[in-house]
Amino acid sequence: MNRVIETLQQRTSLRKYDPRPISDEHLEIILHCAMRAPTAGNMMLYSVIIVEDQEKKEILSRTCDNQPFIARAPLVLIFAADYQKWFDYYRAGKVEDFCRREKIPFAYPSEANLLLAACDALVAAQNAVIAAESLGIGSCYIGDIMERYEEHKELFHLPDFVFPVAMLCMGYYQEGYKKSFRSRFAKEFVVFRDSYRRLSEEELKDMFSSLEQNFNRDNPYRAENYAQLHYAIKTGAPFAREMARSVREALKIWNGKGVD
Ligand SMILES: Cc1cc2nc3c(=O)[nH]c(=O)nc-3n(C[C@H](O)[C@H](O)[C@H](O)COP(=O)(O)O)c2cc1C
Repeated sequence: MNRVIETLQQRTSLRKYDPRPISDEHLEIILHCAMRAPTAGNMMLYSVIIVEDQEKKEILSRTCDNQPFIARAPLVLIFAADYQKWFDYYRAGKVEDFCRREKIPFAYPSEANLLLAACDALVAAQNAVIAAESLGIGSCYIGDIMERYEEHKELFHLPDFVFPVAMLCMGYYQEGYKKSFRSRFAKEFVVFRDSYRRLSEEELKDMFSSLEQNFNRDNPYRAENYAQLHYAIKTGAPFAREMARSVREALKIWNGKGVD
């Protein structure tokens, strides 16, 4: 098997890191590979913030749903959807005046721009993950960077049209570290041909059967089945509510009109 496929198949999320710092050479390779990722219109609608300040790492370990391993990661990278640079460039180029003259509607960054920029940022982040993995550096995404929008905005001086969509914690594998592979849903439930196929209740039962096997009725959430337990732990949990609030707050500005 070729080494790229092997690296992809052998990757798992790493949350315990060897404390030695990432070498400059490896950091350069990781960043270079991130920046070689495909990018919509070759616009590179993202920015990467290398978090070196230990105090900021400590803050992130609390603001990102209290995950202490963030503070122990030798390398923390924030991937932010970024329309600010292009928007500022348009402003400098008097694009609004040009639009008025040529009767082209002029729009501020919109929800669509945010989604596209988020795609860009995530594609770049995943390149960084795989480049790092190939160098013996494990990683873990932190989705909770999308929470506490106002605090993160202030902490990293983010302008209005920059939104942090993903954070990566990275570090070398500790000696003797044993990976454990988390299972995935079967392909038939994920990959469809030619059109989407809504799954029947029967198929959903099949899809979730292995997760349901480990369900314990004696749980602190008083959940009676795995769906209830999962909702309580993930989708309906306080961190998810905070993420919804935070993203909604950010979206107020990404509305195509801006807010003065
Ligand atoms: C968008 C995204 C956000 C994630 N956020 C977190 C997180 O906040 N904390 C964490 O420990 N893992 C996080 N993960 C890692 C997932 O838990 C992990 O990928 C999943 O359980 C599958 O495990 P594996 O990566 O080892 O195969 C995130 C992964 C993704 C893709």
